[in-house]
Amino acid sequence: MTKKGRVFSGARPTGRQHLGNYLGAIRNYVALQADYDCVYCVVDLHALTTMETTRDLKNNTYEMALDWLAAGIDPQESIVFIQSQVRQINELFLIFSMVSPLGKLTDLPTFKEKVRQAPHNVNLGLVGYPVLMAADIALYKADLVPVGIDQAPHIEYTRETVRSFNYRYSTNVLVEPGMKVTEIPKVLGTDGQQKMSKSLNNHIELALTAEETQKVVMTMVTDPQRARRTDPGNPDVCNVFSLHKVFSSPEEVDTINTECRNAGIGCVDCKKLFARNLNAHLAPFREKRSALAEKPDYIWDVLHDGAQRAGTIAEQTMQEVRAAVGLPE
Ligand code: AMP
Ligand code: TRP
Repeated sequence: MTKKGRVFSGARPTGRQHLGNYLGAIRNYVALQADYDCVYCVVDLHALTTMETTRDLKNNTYEMALDWLAAGIDPQESIVFIQSQVRQINELFLIFSMVSPLGKLTDLPTFKEKVRQAPHNVNLGLVGYPVLMAADIALYKADLVPVGIDQAPHIEYTRETVRSFNYRYSTNVLVEPGMKVTEIPKVLGTDGQQKMSKSLNNHIELALTAEETQKVVMTMVTDPQRARRTDPGNPDVCNVFSLHKVFSSPEEVDTINTECRNAGIGCVDCKKLFARNLNAHLAPFREKRSALAEKPDYIWDVLHDGAQRAGTIAEQTMQEVRAAVGLPE
């Protein structure tokens, strides 16, 4: 079947994935496989920009790739690989750095945020983070990039870089990508306040057992105004309710919506029902994950094979890029 074009996305190796990663990224990656040639990348070089130790890098890469495959990324259909294993990325990064205005890079909200978080660790790689991302996307000539809304400035930056490159070298070898924002760009954590994230420890890991999941779900913060079981609640401000909308049937959502407002259902029962539905949804994922985890070599084989296939595309692009720039063959 002919596909509509190429999709590329990357995620830093953060180890076991959580519900935020799943709804914000992975589910989208899986769905796009039907219509696009997909390339999914573990961006370990990007991770180096903020990592002070690389002790967990390998294991985090393995765990994330395992979650991706268990969730339904099909390594026959799609290319799954580790960024650092396709060396051409370094070359395109360097060439792109010549068309990258420093002022624009230091103005990006994502850069400013990183500086605020770690003022002692502002390095050239960090300033160049969006340049490396632009190189990722351009190296594979992606038409479409599925990402969270926080990445919008980086996609815009990629488009500008591709335009600058093509203009400066009077060529059209590189492709300006489009962006596909996930339907659920921000999943809140168990605190019901902040974005779900490992570093805030407010996350629900996909690979937990059903019992562990239920335990974490029971700690979720609901409508803060609802102090007693007999108080009426407001589902509109409740994170558990917003997740019910994803994992529960329309009838259940309707019932909770009504019964919460008139104190017919309490938060404990509401959360139990959510845990049950979430566990039912994740059961096939967990089964597949356990099976895959029994053959760790398979995951590394998939990643190595992915790097070979990605490398072929990357080298093709680089030959065109070198020719456009005027570098000797
Ligand atoms: P990160 O782990 O922050 O590098 O994110 C990897 C991918 O998961 C990115 O595409 C993010 O947009 C997405 N993601 C991470 N956390 C969340 C969240 N809480 N809600 C929605 N998407 C998320
Ligand atoms: N910057 C992205 C993030 O922090 C990760 C990333 C790197 C990426 N290269 C990419 C995403 C290329 C999409 C395409 O989530």
